[in-house]
Amino acid sequence: MTSRPNGEPLVRLSGVDKWFGELHVLQDIDLSIDRGEVVVVIGPSGSGKSTLCRAINRLEPIDKGEITIDGARLPDEGKELARLRADVGMVFQSFNLFAHKTVLENVALGPVKVRKKSKAEAEGRARELLERVGVASQADKYPAQLSGGQQQRVAIARALAMEPKVMLFDEPTSALDPEMINEVLDVMVGLAKDGMTMVVVTHEMGFARRAANRVVFMDGGRIVETAEPETFFTSPQSDRAKDFLSKILTH
Ligand SMILES: Nc1ncnc2c1ncn2[C@@H]1O[C@H](COP(=O)(O)OP(=O)(O)OP(=O)(O)O)[C@@H](O)[C@H]1O
Ligand SMILES: [Mg+2]
Repeated sequence: MTSRPNGEPLVRLSGVDKWFGELHVLQDIDLSIDRGEVVVVIGPSGSGKSTLCRAINRLEPIDKGEITIDGARLPDEGKELARLRADVGMVFQSFNLFAHKTVLENVALGPVKVRKKSKAEAEGRARELLERVGVASQADKYPAQLSGGQQQRVAIARALAMEPKVMLFDEPTSALDPEMINEVLDVMVGLAKDGMTMVVVTHEMGFARRAANRVVFMDGGRIVETAEPETFFTSPQSDRAKDFLSKILTH
């Protein structure tokens, strides 16, 4: 179920443009995501998927347009930005865990530093989240002692610990060995079922079919097509989407 309790989508991009020098990497992007909605972003390499995620989180400044989270426009800098940015959880292809901290510390750190939780409260919550992603028994190990799939699940727990309103995933399984992909996707499907609002860049069509409300197809910095997963995968409308799907389906 998705909803708009106050009439506002949870994430709204309107008229967003971004250039890297001469390269027009996001072109007039309009995208609204409701609370509880799961949007899969798909498209060829270089089409702007990662830049879109990074812009939502203000890791990349935009040149035109507006991005709001829960009705609030992200400020350019300062404390307010840190607080609002914490509303957006992000999981990348590479796990980016702190190597010299234990799994538990990795998950508990942000809530203590940014959300001003006590250490005991943050660690209690961290243990619950590690349980939820299925790695509770690894809490006292260091990241290097875990498999890639386990590390990525810790990264998800760490993002969740900040109590984000929306979670962004940028190709979270593409650096994993095949046998570990499903353990991460299963955690993501669980999150989606629990009502988390999610933007997921992935070519995992099984995930899109199981969990997504919408597929957004990007090419050349533009949103070319938006559809429900089944419709998108079985009858894409644009030639660019047809061409892209024919390539990934034959791999
Ligand atoms: N920091 C940067 N400076 C200059 N150009 C950049 C920068 N980051 C990305 N680009 C360029 O912007 C375009 C979009 O990149 P982006 O990483 O968003 O694509 P993507 O859809 O995520 O691709 P992939 O599927 O390979 O991850 C590409 O042409 C890329 O080379
Ligand atoms: Mg990318």
